[in-house]
Amino acid sequence: MEQLFKNILDNLNIGVIFVDKFGKISYANKRAMEIRKMDPDRIGTHVVECHPSKVHEKVYEVLENFSNGKMTHRHKLTRAGDKYFDNEYIALYDLNGEFLGIILVSKDVTEEIRLRTELERYYRTIEEEVKRKEEEIEKKYREILSVREHLMHSEKMFAIGKFVSVVAHEVNNPLDGIENCLRMIVQEPENAEQTRRYAELALEAVLRIENFLRVILDYAKPHSYEVELVDLSHVICKVVDVVRYKVSNKNIIIAVDVENGVLVGGISHHLEQVFLNLLLNSIDAIEEKRDNLKDLNFRGEIYIRAMKQDDHVLIEVRDNGCGIKEEHLGKIFNPFFTTKKEKGSGLGLYICYNIINSHGGKIKVESSPNVGTTFIIILPQNLFSVRNKNKLYELMWTK
Ligand SMILES: Nc1ncnc2c1ncn2[C@@H]1O[C@H](COP(=O)(O)OP(=O)(O)O)[C@@H](O)[C@H]1O
Ligand SMILES: [Mg+2]
Repeated sequence: MEQLFKNILDNLNIGVIFVDKFGKISYANKRAMEIRKMDPDRIGTHVVECHPSKVHEKVYEVLENFSNGKMTHRHKLTRAGDKYFDNEYIALYDLNGEFLGIILVSKDVTEEIRLRTELERYYRTIEEEVKRKEEEIEKKYREILSVREHLMHSEKMFAIGKFVSVVAHEVNNPLDGIENCLRMIVQEPENAEQTRRYAELALEAVLRIENFLRVILDYAKPHSYEVELVDLSHVICKVVDVVRYKVSNKNIIIAVDVENGVLVGGISHHLEQVFLNLLLNSIDAIEEKRDNLKDLNFRGEIYIRAMKQDDHVLIEVRDNGCGIKEEHLGKIFNPFFTTKKEKGSGLGLYICYNIINSHGGKIKVESSPNVGTTFIIILPQNLFSVRNKNKLYELMWTK
């Protein structure tokens, strides 16, 4: 039996040494002797003799701690040459709890340590790589931000430039006209008929400037208007009255079919602007069609209807004007898009789009060239926009 245990122990790949309670090495298996480079005649000698004298004190201390029960277990990593060993010291007691000695188990962990070191080195490289990439991304992100800022700045400058040129143009043209009219009047003041005609033309030009400035100033001054419950029939009828007066002698009929009491939450003045812009566009389209047809008797028709539908309001503004070319359909809501050359600012529909959008609604267009155009507006009917005043403002002025 003893031989069998000896055989088993000698064939283990871990070193096993037994040091008795007097500190004497009473057993070492084959592997332990290899690991510790021990001669067989060490068996039977005191364990301190296997250690250099400078650690003798420490060895005695450990032995003492084990024998008086202060220590029952100890772990220590040692290095011998290029090998690493994990040493475990375990106190051994007999059945009565009497201390017999210490079992020392040594295991070669060189490969594990090598792998661990390699892994740590690998982690460190990855960490460094990740850090480097993060810095790179951060740098690129900052670059993108600066390019974006630059782009936004140039876009803004472009828009401002375009805006200023449109404003200058819209004001300068009628101003030129007024100047010409006044010159004619000054040249021949006694010609009452001519004076009256030029004075009327000049007045028209003044109104045009006034109207243009009103449109852009209204749009630029958000806080002068209150969000309220707006009765759409009032808004539409008010605008139609103004426009009817303008088209009174132009052979254009405007029909209105709006239910009473269709309420939406919003800014009535802005909603008026939407319908004014749409009606003025319809009139322009009808006049353009009349010019194209060379038919002075062509009768323009504009039809506006508004009705409640589920939780929203549907509004249609339809005309039998010149229609919109298919290739222009995607552009008409862009700022400054106009087909009216110097007569147009291209801001009307852009403003409509923004106003409807900020009221939580949608605007779309259907058109057939030479047949006519219908603008369809959907506005939410619930009172969310009135209840959430600030939200509406936010929507309106962050667009
Ligand atoms: N009812 C319409 N019929 C035909 N074309 C229209 C109509 N409404 C708008 N458009 C087209 O959309 C363009 C943009 O309209 P808008 O933004 O109001 O600017 P503007 O009227 O100053 O040109 C117009 O120039 C015109 O080509
Ligand atoms: Mg317009």
